[in-house]
Amino acid sequence: MRKILIAGNWKMYKTQAEAKAFLQSFLPHVENTDPARGIILCSPFTALDPMSQNLHGSRVRLGAQNIHWEEVGAYTGEVSGVMLKEIGVSYVIVGHSERRQYFGETDETVNLRLKAAQQYAITPILCVGETKAQRDAGETEAVILAQLKADLVGVDQSNLVIAYEPIWAIGTGDTCEATEANRVIGLIRAQLDNPDVPIQYGGSVKPSNVDEIMAQPEIDGALVGGASLEAGDFARIVNYE
Ligand code: PGA
Repeated sequence: MRKILIAGNWKMYKTQAEAKAFLQSFLPHVENTDPARGIILCSPFTALDPMSQNLHGSRVRLGAQNIHWEEVGAYTGEVSGVMLKEIGVSYVIVGHSERRQYFGETDETVNLRLKAAQQYAITPILCVGETKAQRDAGETEAVILAQLKADLVGVDQSNLVIAYEPIWAIGTGDTCEATEANRVIGLIRAQLDNPDVPIQYGGSVKPSNVDEIMAQPEIDGALVGGASLEAGDFARIVNYE
């Protein structure tokens, strides 16, 4: 049985005070949410500790947005699995297109980060997806298959989540058609050794389109950026119909 997982990616938003205020308003909305739905919030590093304390005893799991592959070392600006584990992090986003695009993340470093997360029993959420130019050139399938091939070398598929995030749909309001997202996610699944890996869709998921997205048979959840910043919107997404 594939798990359903709805994750919020806060990116570089929310101070500690804002994160706590979000939870106060958000948590009551998910008290009656179907227990089969996993709920994850990926906050900036600085908010992880207060998030962890405020989520204690709740069903919401905590996620980070990056992880280094070494445990300790001279890696200025990086954070390791042992540090994340200590404060109760259960998930980590790896290979988000913003990291690939702005911070020089490559398939090689993505692969190292995935394996490091698993070593600390943290579940990585691997992001893959094509640019607009690649889609227009008919390269969508080839790009995604190449990312999967390189990123998943030596990765344990029993502790993994994948997010299909077409880059042109991220933060643009321009959602991928639900049926097209379903098609690509089916393709991704066909490449995996473990067909039970949950595969999310990400890219302009919002209260107005989540029901249609989640109705697709291949789509096991959503990775939500902008619409996860407001408690009411994210609650509506988690409580999709
Ligand atoms: P968005 O971001 O929902 O704001 O499009 C999704 C993501 O980057 O994970």
